[in-house]
Amino acid sequence: MSDDPHDLRPDTRVVTAGRRPEWTAGVVNTPVWRASTILYDDVAHLRASGAADTHHRLFYGRRGTPTQWSLADALTSLEPGAEGTFLYPSGVAAIAACLLAVLSPGDELLVPDSAYDPTRSMATGLLKRFGIAARFYDPLIGEGIAELVGPNTRAIFMESPGSLTFEVQDVPAIVAVAKSRGIATILDNTWATPLFFPAIGKGVDYSILACTKYVVGHSDVMLGSVTAGSGRFAALRETSFQLGQVTSPDDAWLGSRGLRTMSVRLRQHQASALEVARWLAAQPEVSRVLHPALASCPGHKTFARDFLGSSGLFSFALQGGDERSRATLINALDHFGIGYSWGGYESLALPVDPARHRSATTPDFAGPLIRLQIGLEDPADLIADLARGLAAFRAARG
Ligand SMILES: Cc1ncc(COP(=O)(O)O)c(C=O)c1O
Repeated sequence: MSDDPHDLRPDTRVVTAGRRPEWTAGVVNTPVWRASTILYDDVAHLRASGAADTHHRLFYGRRGTPTQWSLADALTSLEPGAEGTFLYPSGVAAIAACLLAVLSPGDELLVPDSAYDPTRSMATGLLKRFGIAARFYDPLIGEGIAELVGPNTRAIFMESPGSLTFEVQDVPAIVAVAKSRGIATILDNTWATPLFFPAIGKGVDYSILACTKYVVGHSDVMLGSVTAGSGRFAALRETSFQLGQVTSPDDAWLGSRGLRTMSVRLRQHQASALEVARWLAAQPEVSRVLHPALASCPGHKTFARDFLGSSGLFSFALQGGDERSRATLINALDHFGIGYSWGGYESLALPVDPARHRSATTPDFAGPLIRLQIGLEDPADLIADLARGLAAFRAARG
């Protein structure tokens, strides 16, 4: 049997990855190693430790313990071709560290217009303050990105699909342009995870996960990660150390615990979300379903070509209606919580207004949008709930 975890099938990797005997010390799950101070045998030992590379060696709590290394190692194993992973206390912290590792004053960053709003704010706020320019582009631009690349373009950010309107980006085409110009590529891969889109293997330089979503899977921990491709990890780690980034071992432990069931959870999210999405597409109150696996979603052909599966988050547009009738629908639901985030075991419904966060494109739908996170409940109950919600919407819309 090969020692390379990348040679194992993904389901097996999810179960075995990161469980090194020196970290698990004889138990199944790597325990929670909580530490700030690490004690040395003598002064010579202390001095020798400080001088050496501290990767996977106890040095000081901020550099991590086996609990964080185990999860980081497991996430690296899920991305064939990856060199290493750094963990962060949230997905947004992961995005910030990655951008700061790659960009310098005077550089330009290209950002899809569909990007998660805090990613936009980072580009137009924090990065701008440090002299980094951002240009927003149509997420469906594909190889047309070549036209936007300027002399100072250093990185192209992607989020595929976008987490409100689900445009699927042509990542291979954008990566090809970036590689030919020596530009770094960064992908927010939270929706698909490496199980449904192994990003580093497709040439992406940095694959970001808001582990808060599917890795944790239980809506009770904030966590993020950046997995770096070949030759990219050292700079990411150094910048993250300089930023003082460290993830609590307790949170990393919960992340590892979630990861072990991620592939079975994702398969159920996939099946249930598809069932609900197809049902919604047949309802007269629904004008369009934005689910990457359905032909009605922008970029669906790219999805069908590149992805190994779909997860549990998608949106649908109502046929007519307004803010009030949309709220009536959502308030009528019993099995859908109303709240931010996604990727947990429970269903959620959220009113979303993508036009508020756009500058390069104008999303145009027949009515307001609702984003659904389909959890692990029986999809028949969720569909019955949505039928009640649509009836309430119909009455309110008039
Ligand atoms: C697509 C996407 N990326 C990143 C994040 C940020 O993750 P976190 O909430 O862990 O900071 C989110 C959160 O909703 C998200 O939807």
